[in-house]
Amino acid sequence: MKIGIDKIGFNTSSYYLDLTDLANARGVDPNKYLIGIGQEKQAVVLPTQDIVTMGTMAADQMLTDADRQTITTVIVATESGIDNSKASAIYVKTLLGLGDFVRTIEFKEACYAGTAAIQAAKGLVSANPEEHVLVIAADIARYGLNTPGEVTQGGGAVAMLVTANPRILSIEGPSVPITRDVMDFWRPLGKTEAIVDGKYSTNVYIEMFLEAFKRYQELTDDDLTDFTALAFHLPFTKMGKKALEALLGDEDSLIAEKLRAQLTASQILNRKVGNLYTGSLYLSLISLLINGELAAGEKIGLFSYGSGAEGEFYTVTLQAGFETAFDKDLIESNLETRTKISVAEYEAIFNSQLGMNSEDIELNLDNDISKFRLTGIQNQKRIYTKK
Ligand code: HMG
Repeated sequence: MKIGIDKIGFNTSSYYLDLTDLANARGVDPNKYLIGIGQEKQAVVLPTQDIVTMGTMAADQMLTDADRQTITTVIVATESGIDNSKASAIYVKTLLGLGDFVRTIEFKEACYAGTAAIQAAKGLVSANPEEHVLVIAADIARYGLNTPGEVTQGGGAVAMLVTANPRILSIEGPSVPITRDVMDFWRPLGKTEAIVDGKYSTNVYIEMFLEAFKRYQELTDDDLTDFTALAFHLPFTKMGKKALEALLGDEDSLIAEKLRAQLTASQILNRKVGNLYTGSLYLSLISLLINGELAAGEKIGLFSYGSGAEGEFYTVTLQAGFETAFDKDLIESNLETRTKISVAEYEAIFNSQLGMNSEDIELNLDNDISKFRLTGIQNQKRIYTKK
């Protein structure tokens, strides 16, 4: 039985910061951000948006009423959790109008958790082909104003429906998970911004990718020609290039050139959004599905990485008709119709996040056109509305 991604959708903030403006404000050559880091725009998330509202919207746009009747499990993968106890998936279930006979859970391990959720979903469907598992990978990446990580912030959510006989891609085996206990990036309880050892984190990422890929080759005998593309977790798009070049070295064969071109296709959407932690690999996959040179039956290798650190290399196979099984135009138009804001507006929004506040708050919804919104906090409970 084939198991995999049957539907995929994406949502992000309707506001963005132009990184040339940020470079000018920070006294940096814009090419450092545009070329050196490989980012053009950054999603700026209003206080009235969070992983619940963005994740719900990503799912809402792709689910039919019939889908809502058949979903059996909702997994939200995130490191931007809104409660230390209650799963954000429960709020998502309510806002999506799902019935009560559903399993709802939250997964955490930095940016890797989206892949853990996909593999768990595959396991559920393999035990019972009637399972329809909604996986949402949603995050807001925050490092702080004037920090080296600032240019790599962003946010958004990818929603995926994992089922038997999927229309977009099937998940293959073997997969290679890999864990190392390192302090490259973490966020202690009570802190709203990550602590990061940036250069170290990029080195650990590359080492773990090369190790996982080598192990995959030992298990399968696959070589580069077995892949039509390799897609990566993209905290910033240059990271994917660093990882691919570490694998290819100075190889200039046809397959090496093809993998480089497909990587460029997989970076297009991420360049305009920034890091969305758990969702970044899957936004890159969407970008590849939209912009890559792909055909049904071809195999894509995916490298998932979450600091701390855990990675996984696994493969997926494109299904016949995959290109019409998701709403490419909606995803692209949502990005193109966003509103650009100034650096001063971005800084004000950054500083107005709710953080660890436990007082009653009523948020100003004037600038938020979204269907799902966080209206405030009452008695330490988050209050969400649907337009
Ligand atoms: P930095 O101090 O700005 O780095 O920090 P830099 O000065 O080395 O510059 C970056 C690149 O720009 C360099 O290229 C420069 O040469 C180039 P590279 O050597 O890397 O190829 N450059 C220029 N290029 C063109 N024109 C110019 C110019 N000037 C310089 N004029 C860093 C960069 C990524 C470290 C920082 O932004 C950071 O700490 N980011 C956050 C951490 C991160 O994203 N790590 C990635 C791996 S860890 C991961 O992926 C997990 C994560 O998503 C979290 C999770 O799992 O939850 C982060």
